[in-house]
Amino acid sequence: MKRSRVNEIMLEGDAFIRSFGYVMPPFAYWTPEEFRARKADAAGILDARLGWDITDFGGGRFDELGLFLFTVRNGRAADLATGRGMLYAEKIMIARKDQVTPMHRHVVKAEDIINRGGGTLTLELFLSDAKGEIDLEAGVTVPSDGILRRLPAGGKLKLEPGESVTLLPGVWHAFWGEGADVLVGEVSTVNDDRTDNIFADPVGRFAEIEEDEDPQHLLVADYDRWFGT
Ligand SMILES: [Fe+2]
Repeated sequence: MKRSRVNEIMLEGDAFIRSFGYVMPPFAYWTPEEFRARKADAAGILDARLGWDITDFGGGRFDELGLFLFTVRNGRAADLATGRGMLYAEKIMIARKDQVTPMHRHVVKAEDIINRGGGTLTLELFLSDAKGEIDLEAGVTVPSDGILRRLPAGGKLKLEPGESVTLLPGVWHAFWGEGADVLVGEVSTVNDDRTDNIFADPVGRFAEIEEDEDPQHLLVADYDRWFGT
């Protein structure tokens, strides 16, 4: 996707998020030049890969297959081994109306997906079979705000504003906004998006960017090229 489109989506996304009273942290608004000047201060941001993550899953059709994410906090993967420390992460996301995040599962990450406002968030859910592939038969039971909800394989779970679901590793999920764009929260286990997303279809996790103008703010996927992280 074009950098100019990424810049537009950042502006639109920021306004949408603020309309619900949620404000992203100060580093969200650094220019690439400020980021470069503050590189030494920013080690925690770069190491945890905090920040903007706008993706079309490599398909070039953001409106149909895409997701706006901003990683607000992310713990230390090394702490998982000891079972104590910063084991958690938080993202704020926007699932636009009829914009699909493709079917995927995680190996390590458990995540609560929260409808924080806007339209209905619809999730299509499957369990994994013994090989980790989509189980087309088994029913799915998921905790949703303290209540177990039971669905058939491929059932659609609809979350209204205020509602959430807990997805444990291995639960296949795709989701999209219905009726209107949705502000989505994610509270999860410490997360590495480079390694912990298994997609049902061959898609990419990050967009390929065509540099038709300067970036307004850097994407997490830009950090390696800009800072050699
Ligand atoms: Fe997920």
